[in-house]
Amino acid sequence: MKRLEGKVALITGAGQGIGRVTALVFAREGARLGLLDKNEANVKAVAEEVKALGGEASAVGCDVSRKSDVTAAINDARSRFGALHILVNNAGVTLTRPFIESSEADIDFLVGVNLKGTIFASQAAIPHIIASGGGAIVHDASNAGLVGRPWQPVYGATKAGIISLTKAMALAHARDNVRVNCICPGSIDTPMLRSALASSGQFEENWKKTGMVIPMGRIGTPEDIAYATLFLASDEARYITGIALPVDGGRTAGVAEVSHLGMALPK
Ligand SMILES: NC(=O)c1ccc[n+]([C@@H]2O[C@H](COP(=O)([O-])OP(=O)(O)OC[C@H]3O[C@@H](n4cnc5c(N)ncnc54)[C@H](O)[C@@H]3O)[C@@H](O)[C@H]2O)c1
Repeated sequence: MKRLEGKVALITGAGQGIGRVTALVFAREGARLGLLDKNEANVKAVAEEVKALGGEASAVGCDVSRKSDVTAAINDARSRFGALHILVNNAGVTLTRPFIESSEADIDFLVGVNLKGTIFASQAAIPHIIASGGGAIVHDASNAGLVGRPWQPVYGATKAGIISLTKAMALAHARDNVRVNCICPGSIDTPMLRSALASSGQFEENWKKTGMVIPMGRIGTPEDIAYATLFLASDEARYITGIALPVDGGRTAGVAEVSHLGMALPK
C-alpha cells in the first residue's frame, strides 16, 4: 500500500526546489496532485514529470500572495479531483538585508508571499479538507523562524509567524480532523539557497562554510524535506498536530563549535 494512496494533495511553489521534489515523492506514494506556482511554465513541466512517473497532476499558475488567485486555484483543484486531503504550503521567498535597510517594499514582499500566502491558501483549503473527511496541512517555515539570523530579520519573522500560525490552526481545527504542522528546514540545496550563496560572488566559499556549521556536515537535499513532509502529511502522523519540526542536520540543536575555535566535532 502506498502511503498517500487515495489522497488528493495541493502543493504551492511546486515549480522548483523543495516543492518540485515533494510533488515527485508524493506522486510515487500514490497522491493525486494539484500543483500551484507563480511560474506557470515551471509548474507545468513538473506536472509532466509526475505524469511520466505514472501519476496524476494538474498545474496552475497562481500567486499565493493574492487571495482571489489562490482561492480560485484551490477551488478549481477541488472541483477537478472531487476531494482535498492535504495542503503543503511551500511557496516562499527570501531576502538578505540588514534590519534597518529593509524597505517597506521588501517587507510587503516577504510578508505577502510567506505569511499572507500561507494564510490565504489555508483559508481556502480547510473547508474542502473538512468536507473530504479531514486531512493534513504542512507549512514550510524555516529554522530562521526558530533562531535569530541577523542577515535575514524580516524573512525570519515571517517564518516565526508561520510557526505561531501552525499552533493556532492546529488547535482551531483539531476537532475537525485537520492536523496542522510545519517543517523548519535548514540550508537545503535549491535554487533559493544557491542564489543566496552566490549573491556575494563567492559561491564556492559560501557553500563550504555553510556545510561546515551544520553538525551533520552537509547541506540538506530537497528529499530530506520531502520525506519529513510526507510523514507529517500521511496517516502515520495521525496523532501529531501543532508541531514545528526542524529538518536541519542539527543546526538548531545548539552551537556547533566548529569555526571560531577551529575545533572539529567529535567523531
Ligand atoms: N532552501 C532552503 O535552504 C530553505 C531553508 C528554509 C526554508 N525554506 C523554505 O522552503 C520553501 C521552498 O524553498 P525552496 O528553497 O525550494 O525555494 P525556491 O525559490 O527554489 O522555490 C520556491 C518556489 O516558490 C514559487 N513562488 C515564489 N513566490 C510565489 C508566489 N507568490 N506564489 C506562488 N509561488 C511562488 C517560486 O516560483 C518557486 O518555484 C520556502 O518557503 C522557503 O522559505 C527553504
